[in-house]
Amino acid sequence: MRIAFLSDIHGNYTAFQAVLKDLEAQKIDQFVSLGDTITMGPQPVETLRALRNLGCLYVKGNHDDAVLEPEKAEQYEVTHYLIPDLHWCQRQLSADDLAFLASFKPMISLALPNGIKILAYHGSPLSSTDIIQATTNSELLDKYFEGQNADIYIGGHSHIQMTRRYGKKVILNSGSIGNAFEFVYAPGNKPKLLPWAEYMIVSQSDDFFSVDARRVYFDTDEVHKIVKESSLPGSAWWLRQYDK
Ligand SMILES: [Fe+2]
Repeated sequence: MRIAFLSDIHGNYTAFQAVLKDLEAQKIDQFVSLGDTITMGPQPVETLRALRNLGCLYVKGNHDDAVLEPEKAEQYEVTHYLIPDLHWCQRQLSADDLAFLASFKPMISLALPNGIKILAYHGSPLSSTDIIQATTNSELLDKYFEGQNADIYIGGHSHIQMTRRYGKKVILNSGSIGNAFEFVYAPGNKPKLLPWAEYMIVSQSDDFFSVDARRVYFDTDEVHKIVKESSLPGSAWWLRQYDK
């Protein structure tokens, strides 16, 4: 069984298309979207349509919540300079798009044929705004995973791909498709984007289990072209990305 985990597309449809092309050859049994499907990027409508056509299990990210309730942006930890983008994004969407976003779940449990249990979330099992990193201490990890009995824990949110074994658990972050960060976000430091998309495939057959942390390059000039042609409020930030 092969499960593809897709996260933090953030409306970068160019990056998502590159991943979809890569996925065509991957023989995937189940797709799981880990949230933050839109906001920030210039093509929320196209992104949501393609993600819906793919047919996934959908986890809700903090930005998905924030698009539904922009007045609560602070509660969802969307930084102040992204608020105009949040409103812009909401204006692009139909009532049907918003209902689709609202249907996303806080967490999803899955099982592999050999009994390995997977728990999928956006930030942590406790909150879509928690950030789990390679350096997160054991006290915090134990708090996040308390009461859970999964073997594999997978989320997004940090925009940094990660595989970490913690005792018998494996903690994964599939990375970000549309906004791969060079370093984890810290308030006051605007993130710097890397010119590739990240996603993961978890697979198991017989006595074999593997995690494939994939990187797909995409046309960053195309992203800049689309941003320039859009009315996206945050376009100046995008045009400084990819070492241009
Ligand atoms: Fe995100």
